[in-house]
Amino acid sequence: MTIKETLLWGTSELHEICERPQYEAELLLTYHLKQDRTYLILHEDKEIDIKEYEKLIERRKNHEPYEYIVGEASFYDIYLKVEEGVLIPRPETEILIDLVAEIIEKEKIIRIAEIGVGTGAISIVLARKFPELKSIATDICEKPLEIAQLNINKYQLGDQVELRKSNLMDEVSEPVELVVSNPPYIAEDYLLESNVVDYEPKEALFGGKVGDELLKQIILDVKAREIKWLACEMGYDQKEPIQAFVKEVGVKSIQFYKDLAGFDRGFIIQFM
Ligand SMILES: C[S@@+](CC[C@H](N)C(=O)[O-])C[C@H]1O[C@@H](n2cnc3c(N)ncnc32)[C@H](O)[C@@H]1O
Repeated sequence: MTIKETLLWGTSELHEICERPQYEAELLLTYHLKQDRTYLILHEDKEIDIKEYEKLIERRKNHEPYEYIVGEASFYDIYLKVEEGVLIPRPETEILIDLVAEIIEKEKIIRIAEIGVGTGAISIVLARKFPELKSIATDICEKPLEIAQLNINKYQLGDQVELRKSNLMDEVSEPVELVVSNPPYIAEDYLLESNVVDYEPKEALFGGKVGDELLKQIILDVKAREIKWLACEMGYDQKEPIQAFVKEVGVKSIQFYKDLAGFDRGFIIQFM
């Protein structure tokens, strides 16, 4: 088949399962041929062997996320290695990073902790923005720690981001000025799309029976340690319960923020 025919075939195969079949068919072909999209346009009549490409299309048809197939995710201004067992970083988490960056800049913060590092997305982007910043980033699972370390090495941030296997911040005894987290916050019985629930790790998705259990525990832990700032991502329906909870706990202020679709998506707490 020619490149043009291959793309038409790939697009029709992906029609049922993804929103942008032509775009994904093209991206998978650039990955297969190790060429960019311009190459596909300039060489549309070139004959190619598509046996391996057919396998990639088959994987995508089985709802495997594109990022796991190619082993990489685009996030903020970087590319992060991903594989099964580690959450694919989501665009909405970039909003959390920008809000935390504002606080770091304003308060001249140099020591932070991150709970639930995943690929390393949050700590890596922050470390690249602030060369003086040090982050201790935890995760309860081995696989994210392994992948985060590869990403930290790729961007040569070993002096700034230290990883630790830990439940929440249990293994972090050093003083920090701010804690950031995108913890699992989905309720156990929430129905997710098959590309998410069949492939992404349960430990990264589900926060407990109600969903906000880990968020509440993080709020309590950070307050107990007398850390001034906490910034978290949360579910679109968790503003009310979190607001009621912090009223009980007692904080100086809480500011909620929305994602680009207009849904409640997280909060910044100042404890003192
Ligand atoms: C939603 S993912 C976020 C990953 C990454 N920070 C991001 O934004 O893409 C949550 C991460 O928290 C980790 N995690 C779950 N429970 C945890 C716990 N009790 N303590 C530390 N990490 C935990 C999961 O393994 C997962 O990597």
